[in-house]
Amino acid sequence: MAVNLKGRNFLTLMDFTPEEIRYMLDLAHDLKAKKRAGIVNHLLKGKNIVLLFEKTSTRTRCAFEVAAMDEGAGVTFLDSGSSQMGKKESLEDTAKVLGRFYDGIEYRGYKQSVVEELAEHAGVPVWNGLTDVDHPTQILADMLTIEEHVAKPLNKVKVVFVGDVRNNMAYAWMYGCAKMGMHFVAYGPKELCDEVDSSVLERAREVAKETGATIEVSHEKSALKGADVIYTDIWASMGEEAQIPERVKLLTPYRVDMDLIKATENDDVIFLHCLPSFHDFETTMAKGQKDEGYDIREVTDEVFRSRFSKVFDEAENRMHTIKAVIVATIA
Ligand code: CP
Ligand code: NVA
Repeated sequence: MAVNLKGRNFLTLMDFTPEEIRYMLDLAHDLKAKKRAGIVNHLLKGKNIVLLFEKTSTRTRCAFEVAAMDEGAGVTFLDSGSSQMGKKESLEDTAKVLGRFYDGIEYRGYKQSVVEELAEHAGVPVWNGLTDVDHPTQILADMLTIEEHVAKPLNKVKVVFVGDVRNNMAYAWMYGCAKMGMHFVAYGPKELCDEVDSSVLERAREVAKETGATIEVSHEKSALKGADVIYTDIWASMGEEAQIPERVKLLTPYRVDMDLIKATENDDVIFLHCLPSFHDFETTMAKGQKDEGYDIREVTDEVFRSRFSKVFDEAENRMHTIKAVIVATIA
């Protein structure tokens, strides 16, 4: 049956079938090729979208803006200080108002329940631009990048997520891999493995039974063997900065360095990272933490800049995949 995603929300990959995810990836490949060839279609002419950000962003915000503008849509950006949402006006009322003005609403913030509530009341598609427990647009970009750099179909690919195995990226990967029949290991310290939300794991494994995916959590180094993708993320996500001392203690042995890359025993392995990354001390945060005695680098500069690293292709793909999500749901 033909896939039609018009009018759909994009809150988590768990809401989509493998065929629907395949459709969005194919559309992203196509839109990327068209942009490269200078082909302009203005698929969103006459549309307007609004971007609500309660957390900071470079890639997601700019990807939504450029994707929409490339296709001829208008864009409004609102951060947490510049709207009434949540403070003087309920989420329900905000969603109802924005749904009258706009054809689609992006939201980045804390609770998944907020993006769900917006979707319940907006009457137009709502897109999840990251919450504490999911980051589905990032996973589409990561899958596109894997398809460009790993000479295997997705269902033969092994992804090892290294580090904070209980964060939004780890969970988003569990869902994405489960849906696409991929092989996933969340590899991190036992203390954090024990904190992985069992309901996330159960939901992912339930889907995996149908798709042939494998979803594992491990603190054993042997988990790295045969990885096609080594993925990592910062050790303390937005809003968790107070945890830095404890995380540095737990995660220092899990910093992605060349020894960890070698432990995959795969010379064609690629390194991915959602970014932003602490790979040196060229940020006020990494420098400030270093002065306090904490080295928060989750990956060495050597790996980040190595031939294994495809992180900037991945960052570019945020735009092409987000464009596919917007076009698929509102064009
Ligand atoms: N990867 C990602 O979501 O980046 P931003 O926080 O810059 O949007
Ligand atoms: N886990 C990170 C992802 C940033 C894109 C965070 O939530 O801060």
